[in-house]
Amino acid sequence: MSAHFADREAVAFVDALLARMSVEQKVGQMIQGERMAVTPDDVSTHHLGSILSGGGSAPGGNQPADWIAMNDAYWMASMTDAPGRAPIPILYGVDAVHGHANVLGATVFPHNIGLGAARDAELVERIARITAREVLATGVDWTFAPTLAVAQHLYWGRTYESFSDDHALVTSYAAPMVRGLQGDLGRDSVIACAKHWIGDGGTTGGRDQGNTVITEPELERVHMAPYLPALAEGVLTVMASFNSINGVKCHGNKYLLTDVLKHRLGFQGFVVSDWDGVDYLSEDPAEAVALAANAGVDMFMVSVEWKRCLDLLLQHANDGTIPMSRIDDAVRRILLVKHRYGLFTRPRPAERYWSQQSCLGAPEHRAVAREAVRKSLVLLQNNNALVPLNRDARILVAGKNAHNRGHQCGGFTVAWQGTSGNDFIVGGTSIWEGIQAVAPNATLSEDGTLANAQQHDVAIVVIGERPYAEGMGDIRPAGAVPVGSSPAGKTADLAAYGQTLELSILHPEDLATINTIRAQGIPVVAVLVSGRPLIVDDELAATDAFIAAWLPGSEGQGVADVLFGDYPFTGVLPFPWPRMAPRWPRGFGL
Ligand code: BGC
Repeated sequence: MSAHFADREAVAFVDALLARMSVEQKVGQMIQGERMAVTPDDVSTHHLGSILSGGGSAPGGNQPADWIAMNDAYWMASMTDAPGRAPIPILYGVDAVHGHANVLGATVFPHNIGLGAARDAELVERIARITAREVLATGVDWTFAPTLAVAQHLYWGRTYESFSDDHALVTSYAAPMVRGLQGDLGRDSVIACAKHWIGDGGTTGGRDQGNTVITEPELERVHMAPYLPALAEGVLTVMASFNSINGVKCHGNKYLLTDVLKHRLGFQGFVVSDWDGVDYLSEDPAEAVALAANAGVDMFMVSVEWKRCLDLLLQHANDGTIPMSRIDDAVRRILLVKHRYGLFTRPRPAERYWSQQSCLGAPEHRAVAREAVRKSLVLLQNNNALVPLNRDARILVAGKNAHNRGHQCGGFTVAWQGTSGNDFIVGGTSIWEGIQAVAPNATLSEDGTLANAQQHDVAIVVIGERPYAEGMGDIRPAGAVPVGSSPAGKTADLAAYGQTLELSILHPEDLATINTIRAQGIPVVAVLVSGRPLIVDDELAATDAFIAAWLPGSEGQGVADVLFGDYPFTGVLPFPWPRMAPRWPRGFGL
C-alpha cells in the first residue's frame, strides 16, 4: 500500500459523495460512539460514521456470532437509503492490540513488550496478519493498533504496550505491523491505527496521560521516528494522544496534528481522538469540540455523550466556529479511508469471507502465538546451568501466576483491566498446564507448602504482577505530585498499581513462596510474568535461574518449550533492567 492513497479515482468518488451530503450527515460521519450508547436506529437517524467497543465491551455472549450480528445490524442501519441521504457503510473499531483479545476464544499473543524481546520483525508481521483474520471473523474492520509508543519510564502503566524504550526497535516493527494488518486492503485486511500521536511514552515520571517535556528535535528523533515507516506503509488512521507536549494537549495541538502530521508528513487518512480525549481540552464542551476539530481531529471517539458532541459540531459548522472547509476536510478523509478499505463494495458483515470461517483461536494461529512466547523469553540468570530442565525430573510448580491464564494475558484481554483465573481465557494453556503436558513428574502447589526435598528435584516458581491497563498500571511514589490530565471535575486520578518497582514490596507473597521452597534446599527457577522490568534483587538472590516471560498471552505452552530445552533461549531485553541503587554508599556514617 502506498502512503498516497488519495488518487484521482478515489478523490472523485469521495467528492461526488460529499456533494450529496447534508451538513447533518457530514458531522454524523465525524462521530464514533461506544456500542453500549448507540442503537442501530441512532446510526441511521444521525448518520454516524463509526462505532467502537471500548476495552472489554462485547455484545451478547461475546461469541463471533454475537459480534457479526451486532455489526450486521449497525451496517444495515448505516446503509438505509432515503432522499437527501447517501448510504455510507459504518466502520467498527476495537482494541485488537495483542490479538483480538476482547473476544472469548481468540488467540492472545504476547503484549508488545514481549515482541520487543523477540527481535523478529517477520514474526510481528505474521502476528498482525493473524490478528486481522480473527478481527474479520467477528465482522469488525478496524483495530486501534499498533501502539508505537517509545516508553521512556518503567513507571508508566502502558509500558507493556511499547515494544521498547529504544526508538530504533519500535521503528523497525512499525511497517511490519501495519503491513500485517492492512496488507493489500483486500479481503484479508483490516484498517490499522498508529497510536498515540504523539509523545505518549515520554511523560514526566511515566505518568499516564501526563506531560512530555521535550525539545522538538528530540520529539522527532525519539517519538516521531516510528510513525514514518507506518505512514510510508499507508497506515489509514492515527489516534491522537491523551498526553500533552510541553503543556499543550495533543488533542488540541494544531501544529502537531495538522501542520506536522497532515501537511509535512503527508498523512492522507484521518485522525481519531482517544476515548473522550477531546473533553480534556476545556471545561466548556462546546469550546473543547471546536478546539479539537480546528486542531485537526477528524473523528470523535465518545463514550456516552456522542449526541452532545454531534450537536456541538453541527452548531459550530452552522455558525462558522468550525469552518465548513475543515468539516469537509475531516469528512473527506473519513470517506477516503472507507473507500480505500473497500468498505463501499464489501457486502454486509455476515456475508463477508472471514465471517463465514471459524478461524478464531485456530490451531495454526495458536502455534504462531506459542512461537512468539518461546522467542520472547529472556534468561537473566542461570546458576550452575540449571536450565534447561530435565522433563523427567520431579518438579514442583508454584507461584500465584503458575496457573492463571488471565494474569498471563494482562490488560486489554476480555476486560479492559484484564481478568484473573482461567475461566475467561477460553483455549490455550496456563504455564502450569504447559509444563504438566510434557513433564510427567510435575506437581502444582501454588504457595509452595508441598515442597519437600525428598520428593522434588527442582522447583519452577511463576511470580509477578496481576493485570492492569493504562493509568491503573502506573507506579506513583508516595507524595508524587499529580501531573497528568485531570480536567476539573472530569476524571479523578486513577488508583496507581503501587509506589515502587520493587517486586518484594509490590508482591511480598512471591518472595515468601520462593523462600518456603528454598528452605527445603530445592533449587528454584523463577519465571516472572510482568508488564515491565521490575526490581527483583531479592528474588534473584533467592533463586538459581530467572526468566522474564513478560505477558505471554494464551499460549503458556511456549514457556515449557524452552524450559525443557526443545528450543533455545533467544529473547533479549527490550528495556534496560533496573536494580536497587544502594541507599548509602560504602563509608557513609553520620
Ligand atoms: C486508550 C486507547 C484505546 C481506547 C479505546 C483509550 O482509553 O487510551 O489506546 O484505543 O481507549 O478503547
